[in-house]
Amino acid sequence: MSVEGKIGIIGSGLIGRSWSMLFASVGYKVFIYDIEPKQISGALEDISKQLKSLESSGMLRGTLNAHQQCALIQGTSDLEECVKGARHIQECVPENLELKKKVWAEADKLIVDSDCVLASSTSTFLPSLISADLQHKAQFVVAHPVNPPYYVPLVELVPAPWTEKQVMLRTRDIMEQIGQQPVSLTREIEGFALNRIQYAILNETWRLVQDKVLDVRDIDRVMSEGLGMRYAFLGPLETAHLNAEGMLNYSERYSKTMYAVSQTMGETPLMAGEQAKVVHDQLCDMTPVDKLPERRAWRDKCLTALAKLKKEINDSEK
Ligand SMILES: NC(=O)c1ccc[n+]([C@@H]2O[C@H](COP(=O)([O-])OP(=O)(O)OC[C@H]3O[C@@H](n4cnc5c(N)ncnc54)[C@H](O)[C@@H]3O)[C@@H](O)[C@H]2O)c1
Ligand SMILES: *[C@@H]1O[C@H](CO)[C@@H](O)[C@H](O)[C@H]1NC(C)=O
Ligand SMILES: *[C@@H]1O[C@H](CO)[C@@H](O)[C@H](O)[C@H]1NC(C)=O
Ligand SMILES: *[C@@H]1O[C@H](CO)[C@@H](O)[C@H](O)[C@H]1NC(C)=O
Repeated sequence: MSVEGKIGIIGSGLIGRSWSMLFASVGYKVFIYDIEPKQISGALEDISKQLKSLESSGMLRGTLNAHQQCALIQGTSDLEECVKGARHIQECVPENLELKKKVWAEADKLIVDSDCVLASSTSTFLPSLISADLQHKAQFVVAHPVNPPYYVPLVELVPAPWTEKQVMLRTRDIMEQIGQQPVSLTREIEGFALNRIQYAILNETWRLVQDKVLDVRDIDRVMSEGLGMRYAFLGPLETAHLNAEGMLNYSERYSKTMYAVSQTMGETPLMAGEQAKVVHDQLCDMTPVDKLPERRAWRDKCLTALAKLKKEINDSEK
């Protein structure tokens, strides 16, 4: 199955390249724009390499081969060529509010289609901050991916107060169509969902290390060998549901205990100062800063294998 239609990608860095590959995987024609001509040629080369490597490892998405997918992606140094007639525009310029506002103001003038979705990949800025002055602000939404998007399928969809419901629905549809797993927030909120939860976890791990209850290696093991094993498949709420005879029973059994423990959690730590150095040093014993590229490559290899496993499990259940 192959779809037709045009997608505009603004910014050809890490995230712009991933989005291009995801949209091309189902047959969209992708125009990737960048202000730096060198970035565009670099992106096209890198995408071609990545697609071939995915093909040889059996991880290529979609039904088209790598060569066909690659042929669907073209670079452009003309913003108008990128956005004109696109059904979805995904902006992936650096995380800088003024820059994002500027880029969207330019694109806004070139967009004529009232069906086009204007999506930003921003990790932190509320959609209302980026889109307040746009003519097409009702078509604007945040579609926040998780790195690396090819293997981590979550996309958080966050509306501004003026985003049309239809725009949220269309964005959710296209994300599902390209094989991502969208979630739709009903309103904008600082940190969206993923980072709010991530910060709550960082909060408590920081406190446990600061209070010398566990060292860095062991606190990370609590996640990677404990909670994380389940969380790759189930969320915390379904985990609770399964850990008792349903949620009501879980609540009956554990709500008081959970509440009492939570009451002991203490102040929000500022993750800075002396303690940041203590944590940093312990992390460097595990992975020195100059070994981070190797460790990231290892992380991506693990995520690839996990994505493969999840797919096999899903396929075998059909
Ligand atoms: N990297 C991640 O892990 C990650 C995860 C989720 C979301 N995001 C978000 O995605 C966005 C892009 O991140 P990235 O890591 O791909 O950044 P990046 O720095 O790798 O790429 C940004 C690209 O934008 C280009 N650019 C700069 N100014 C431009 C302009 N005026 N017009 C067009 N292109 C321009 C740059 O040349 C560069 O190619 C950011 O908002 C970021 O917060 C990143
Ligand atoms: C951090 O912990 C404190 C205390 O439990 C809590 O009030 C605060 O909301 C937490 N912050 C985050 C980001 O979870
Ligand atoms: C639910 O939990 C209680 C303990 O609070 C237990 O006694 C009871 O058997 C459980 N109910 C069911 C339906 O399993
Ligand atoms: C499992 O496969 C179905 C059908 O192909 C798909 O709709 C669904 O999103 C998949 N689930 C996951 C978790 O990948």
